[in-house]
Amino acid sequence: MTKTSLPSVDLIREAFHYQSRFDGSTMVFKIDFPVTQDPAFSYLMKDLALLARTGFRVVIVPGAKERIDAVLQEYRIVSQYRGESRITTAAAIPFVEMAAFDVATRFITGLSADRVDAVIGNFVRARGLGVCEGLDMENTGTVDRILTDSIQRVLHLGMVPILPCIGWSPSGKPYNVPSDEIALAASGALGAVKLFIISVHEGLRTGAYAIPKHIEVGATGRIVRLTPLEVEAILETNELLQGPGIQDRPLQELRLALHASKAGVERVHIIDGREEGAVLRELFSNLGAGTMVYADEYEAIRPLKTADIPGILRLMEPLVQQGNLVRRTPKQIQEKRGDYVVFEIDGSVHACGALHHWGEGQGEIAAVATDPAYTDMGLGRRIVRYLIDRAIKQDLHRVFVLTTHTHDWFEFLGFTECGVESLPECRRKQYDRIRKSKIFALDLVAVIEGTVLAINLSDAP
Ligand SMILES: CC(C)(COP(=O)(O)OP(=O)(O)OC[C@H]1O[C@@H](n2cnc3c(N)ncnc32)[C@H](O)[C@@H]1OP(=O)(O)O)[C@@H](O)C(=O)NCCC(=O)NCCS
Repeated sequence: MTKTSLPSVDLIREAFHYQSRFDGSTMVFKIDFPVTQDPAFSYLMKDLALLARTGFRVVIVPGAKERIDAVLQEYRIVSQYRGESRITTAAAIPFVEMAAFDVATRFITGLSADRVDAVIGNFVRARGLGVCEGLDMENTGTVDRILTDSIQRVLHLGMVPILPCIGWSPSGKPYNVPSDEIALAASGALGAVKLFIISVHEGLRTGAYAIPKHIEVGATGRIVRLTPLEVEAILETNELLQGPGIQDRPLQELRLALHASKAGVERVHIIDGREEGAVLRELFSNLGAGTMVYADEYEAIRPLKTADIPGILRLMEPLVQQGNLVRRTPKQIQEKRGDYVVFEIDGSVHACGALHHWGEGQGEIAAVATDPAYTDMGLGRRIVRYLIDRAIKQDLHRVFVLTTHTHDWFEFLGFTECGVESLPECRRKQYDRIRKSKIFALDLVAVIEGTVLAINLSDAP
């Protein structure tokens, strides 16, 4: 009899979990034109079709810059530029529309191959840029408003709306609008949970860019995730180094991600469209395949101060009485103060947790507790994720927990049960054989390599 491969079963479980968690969520995909010319494009379309068919609301914004350049050149139309913006003249706009719709049609073709219906539409209300510093910008426009009702109707029918880089004024005049701008406006207006920025370069990595030391870097030098504050720091340093007016695409994308994040998009993923399966890996694995910019949910989590100790003891007391937590004295907490973090909302502490080092590259996640009035809001999960990130940054290779009542929860978070013998020696010696806590652990090397999919952690609400 063939033995079932556990990792693939786990993967299927995680995928189903994720699917149900994000069922009905809107995700916007901004895809640059060169991606459509890469052999991996058909796989990307397959993956988007799969997402659309399984309940995700997929919106596509195709970039068409290179195609427009080629069409204008073919018809010998010379463009003038103002800074980075091409001035689209009245003579050029029919050719720009032709190129934009040609690109959009390639997406229809890709999705049709997987039997997903898509609609290219006039979903963008635009207005002209007018005259800027004496230059008539003619048919160069900006987003006035995204016509969300029309897009929602299309999504409701299970179809994929495609937004070419053209917008129309209320009187029907067409304008060429940058697709980055459309993607940003659409993500905000549609309340997208994710914006994917897909292009054909390796993205942001150490070596090519000045990256602050504390930022998490993947095995290949890829920047894994960034908070908006970190993005600002990177942009500032690198723009200063490169000088003004440099059109560096990875930095432009980072700026777009920052704006989207500030506009309320929870996660922005910048990925290389030439990498087969990159979207799925970014969605389904903790460390993904690209660079993720996420709204800084950690800002509510901070180290414990001495003044917080009475508060967390109060928080823990009922849980100690229920046998969920071991009793700790103020002195014990004070001695290990640096290990503790708290979740503060409106000036008071509503959850806490700690990471204790036990040597042998292992850390114990302990004292995780949420105020009963604040349960089921993702606080506990965020504390655990924060402590896991801290453990990774501190080069630990494994974290474990001892639990009497919460094993299901840790299992849900990606931990697996193991025996007392797996504990570091000094922790093993202190193991309370009367309390008989269960031991659950998470292999951090597997988390970093992406072979353990701690998705339940990566997408805490
Ligand atoms: C476990 C605990 C920290 C979770 O806190 P929280 O802030 O409510 O956690 P989250 O909001 O991130 O997760 C809530 C989810 O976990 C589930 N959950 C909570 N406690 C659970 C448990 N003991 N077993 C299984 N699932 C549990 C909830 O039903 C909820 O599920 P849902 O998302 O499907 O609705 C909190 O219940 C607690 O303080 N428990 C007592 C202390 C404890 O046992 N700590 C662990 C030992 S270190």
